Amino acid sequence: MYRSHHCGALSAKEIGQTVHLSGWVQKVRDKGFIGWVDLRDRYGVTQLIFDAERSAPELLQAAKDLGRESVISISGEVIARDNANPQMATGAIEILVQELKVLNTSKTPPFTIEDQTDGGEELRAKYRYLDIRRNPVKENLIFRHKVSMEVRKFLSDQGFIDIETPYLIKSTPEGARDFVVPSRMNPGQFYALPQSPQTFKQLLMVGGMDKYFQIVKCFRDEDLRADRQPEFTQIDCEMAFVTQEDILNVFEGLTKHLLSEIHGIEITSFPRMTYAHAMKTYGNDKPDIRFGMEFAELNEQAQHKEFAVFNAAELVVGIAVPGANTYTRKEIDALIDWVKRPQVGAKGLVYVRCNEDGSYKSSVDKFYDQEDLATWAKATGAQAGDLICVLSGDTDATRAQLSALRMEMATRLGLRDPKVFAPLWVIDFPLLEKDPETGHFHAMHHPFTAPKPEHLSLLDTNPAAVNANAYDLVLNGNEIGGGSIRIHDRATQSKMLSLLGFSEAEAKAQFGFLMDAFEYGAPPHGGLAFGLDRLVAILGGQETIREFIAFPKNNAGRDVMIDAPAALDQAQLEELFLDSTAPKNA
Ligand code: AMO
Repeated sequence: MYRSHHCGALSAKEIGQTVHLSGWVQKVRDKGFIGWVDLRDRYGVTQLIFDAERSAPELLQAAKDLGRESVISISGEVIARDNANPQMATGAIEILVQELKVLNTSKTPPFTIEDQTDGGEELRAKYRYLDIRRNPVKENLIFRHKVSMEVRKFLSDQGFIDIETPYLIKSTPEGARDFVVPSRMNPGQFYALPQSPQTFKQLLMVGGMDKYFQIVKCFRDEDLRADRQPEFTQIDCEMAFVTQEDILNVFEGLTKHLLSEIHGIEITSFPRMTYAHAMKTYGNDKPDIRFGMEFAELNEQAQHKEFAVFNAAELVVGIAVPGANTYTRKEIDALIDWVKRPQVGAKGLVYVRCNEDGSYKSSVDKFYDQEDLATWAKATGAQAGDLICVLSGDTDATRAQLSALRMEMATRLGLRDPKVFAPLWVIDFPLLEKDPETGHFHAMHHPFTAPKPEHLSLLDTNPAAVNANAYDLVLNGNEIGGGSIRIHDRATQSKMLSLLGFSEAEAKAQFGFLMDAFEYGAPPHGGLAFGLDRLVAILGGQETIREFIAFPKNNAGRDVMIDAPAALDQAQLEELFLDSTAPKNA
């Protein structure tokens, strides 16, 4: 018998019982005539005791000889500990071991299997199976399981059907590059791995499955960041015969359900904010609304004096940073250097100190008097003790820079509390965005998103002004999910693809199947997808999704444990018709 109990289960209640435990050797303490072993499994740690008085000498010696991370199985009696450890769930007891069997030995692990390990990131990734033995990683995986089970429960209870869609498909554009898979049976042809199941879920709506969901892997060949992996998981959903309002309500419900079930938090405020408002007020389409520091546009207040920098700017915009008038000159200089870093890219920063006596001291006192600065304070909502930070330049760039500064100041001020959750919807996204370099339109969400019906006629005259019934769920400054009401007729889909630069032939070749389906009674439909990795990470109080993925890739897209990607051998290349040196028709 391997186990009568887990290593986290025993307490004073079981004293006197004989138990069987199996697990890994966490630690061996050898005090000569007495020895202790900490035995660990997924559920916890139990202390084993061996001593010269009560244990056979060979048993005591065997215990002392145990190496860290060996796998053992024991039986023994639960006894009360002399020195109970209230910090440990099993701290009241220990096991006086009667039998010990070594099931497998272990090499010395390359890093300590402790909550605080001495292993660096790369080493832990290489031995990920050892890293998973550590509590923080293990807890994150269990946490992910809990979230994903709650999602399934909620959606199933709402009548959503879990349907699998294929992984070997044709390109679905979600704005990234495809990962492709060569087809052996179709020489020179390739499948693409789905960037999302977007077209399939729409076809399921045409198929009448009016509420679909899937917790599904998606693949995108794009540059990686803390919140991006080349393969990641979506909670993908679609509904037919719904309006945007219906969809927002269902997924607002899901978000509230998760916060309530996972954290016991009842969300009472779930604001909706237009994209235009988010950009104007937070410089960002995924604003963190756990704190203020809202933008105040200061063109009117600041462009009537001799300060050429502001006068030449498209936008002058500021925020009041609470309490930051305590910053020394040196600290402010460091902040100016911070906004000038290439990652932020501002040319400079104008500041106004809001003194306790109601006076102002600014870096542009030469141009602006107290009365002027008072209008800035009024616009930004600055109080005595605050520091007003003002940036200027082209609208889009300046907003992005001030948004970065706002987030940085919030982090410094401790306003980004990972235990506080503030979800919101950002709605009314533009349908298209123009590539500043090529001047071409891209779909802001994806090419299947429907224009707002009242903007349909603008498609021909002013496409840039067309908004969509497209929405993002934002949580604590992170884009958790996005979706839209879809186009469900051939003519509009065809027009959309042509706006995006597809020729008629290209559109037919790539999306003919979808447009054909639209001619067989496609119902109005819409949906969204949440990024499960992101959702789990944010709910878990972190922003790096890798921490919540069992076997993640590193920033270069590599799995350093299995050493992938890797070259194929010659025979395999030839079989897949990928060997450019092989004679054709081989
Ligand atoms: P979208 O492209 O917005 O929408 O993706 C939905 C959500 O998936 C997550 N996400 C990622 N997570 C980790 N790594 C990545 N590389 C990555 N890329 C995206 C984000 C994002 O909000 N088919 C549409 C959904 C729809 O319209 O229904 C789609 O895929 O959290």
